[in-house]
Amino acid sequence: MSTPTPVKREAFGSTLGAFAATLGSAVGLGNIWKFPYLTGSNGGAAFVLTYLLAVALVALPVMVVEHAIGRHLRTDAVHAYARIVPRQPFWAAVGWAGLAASLLIMAFYTDVAGWVLAYVFKSLGAFASGATLTPATFQALSGGTWEPVLWQLAVLAVTAGVVAAGVSGGIEKVTKTLMPLLLVLLLACNVRALTLPGAAAGVAYLFAPDFSKLSGAMLLSALGLAFFKLSLGMGTMTTYGAYLPERTHLVPNAVRVALADTLVSLLAGLAIFPAVFALGDTPAGGAGLLFITLPRVFAQMPAGGLFTALFFLLAAAATLGAMVSLMEVPVAWLTRTARLRRPAAAALAALLMAALGIPATLSRGPLLSNVRVLDRDFFTLFDFLSSNVLLPLGGLAITVVGGWLVPRAVFRDELGKGHGEPAWHDGLVHALVRYVAPLLILLILLHGLGLLGG
Ligand code: PHE
Repeated sequence: MSTPTPVKREAFGSTLGAFAATLGSAVGLGNIWKFPYLTGSNGGAAFVLTYLLAVALVALPVMVVEHAIGRHLRTDAVHAYARIVPRQPFWAAVGWAGLAASLLIMAFYTDVAGWVLAYVFKSLGAFASGATLTPATFQALSGGTWEPVLWQLAVLAVTAGVVAAGVSGGIEKVTKTLMPLLLVLLLACNVRALTLPGAAAGVAYLFAPDFSKLSGAMLLSALGLAFFKLSLGMGTMTTYGAYLPERTHLVPNAVRVALADTLVSLLAGLAIFPAVFALGDTPAGGAGLLFITLPRVFAQMPAGGLFTALFFLLAAAATLGAMVSLMEVPVAWLTRTARLRRPAAAALAALLMAALGIPATLSRGPLLSNVRVLDRDFFTLFDFLSSNVLLPLGGLAITVVGGWLVPRAVFRDELGKGHGEPAWHDGLVHALVRYVAPLLILLILLHGLGLLGG
């Protein structure tokens, strides 16, 4: 089914490198910003449990399908979905929607990542001069004009630099270095937060479920987070699938990625909530938790300034692997379709992302905050269109393709690679892809578009 590729084939050099890059794509603002915020606004441990179920029942099988399709065809997302079902090239729409989603997500993601990068320097500066970061620091930054745009462009330039350096020489190398660093920094913040008097209330908040908090809306928001978290439904994991070594065993690899990513989310929660509770704060929502509450909480602890800087450093490290994977979607397509070399493709992708990203950033400040499309500013619109429309729609299509249209033999062959004989869980994964995942995704989609109520 696959044809020989005309361009030099990019690939990860080892199964470990493939794991690091895939995990690098998954770990990001989703763990450090969205997971704590959604846990905080959905009542704690009951949400965490629901999210874990969503990861196991929906996200995991979708990741396996995306990797299988990518590795089977060894091409970018648009070409992969155009070819995966013979005589049905219209599935290429999944790849096109993925390209659109990568641009839209990057538009607001680089805005927030720009704040994170700015906070690395601001918190180091504050630490050196003995000052503290205040809510006004954040308001001035996020509501500004030039400052947030320049940080955003810096973030895009760094991302494009890594992507230009290649799949193995750039993406794999950087994520292999960043992931262990991230874990060490996170653990340091955990030790600091968990040894504060009163930290236990934060731990209980995260792990002692109060099932009266369960609701349909909460279930659906947990499912949505699972999608965004594990970079699914938009071709990122399909693109990375094309770079996976033949010997990588897809199901255990996906399980490891999901487990490690969940561990990072829980550790981020264990760094944030115990500190918040120990210092008598409440689990606030959204950007506030990361950029306002956290520095304020850390500022009250011994060596707090240093830990603020550490925390933002680790957040910055986490965003890079995710942004690199978002940029790889258009870059993989451009190198194949337009025969561009990687540096040119990365520069072009970064330009497109800046063209959408700058309006998103300015929509938080005086210049564009009054411009509304579909009753939303650009930042919120791009987040809505990607998370509530494109990812679930893409995910649903991917389960239909993987569960119903791709011959079972292809699926079995990809899952068996690196393993020899069929494993007991292959059939289970297939059943999840065919029945459970599409049903649940359909629910998210209808809810996200407001067609299903609450
Ligand atoms: N998974 C990333 C995060 O949690 C975001 C992302 C979404 C990356 C979609 C790639 C594709 O931050």
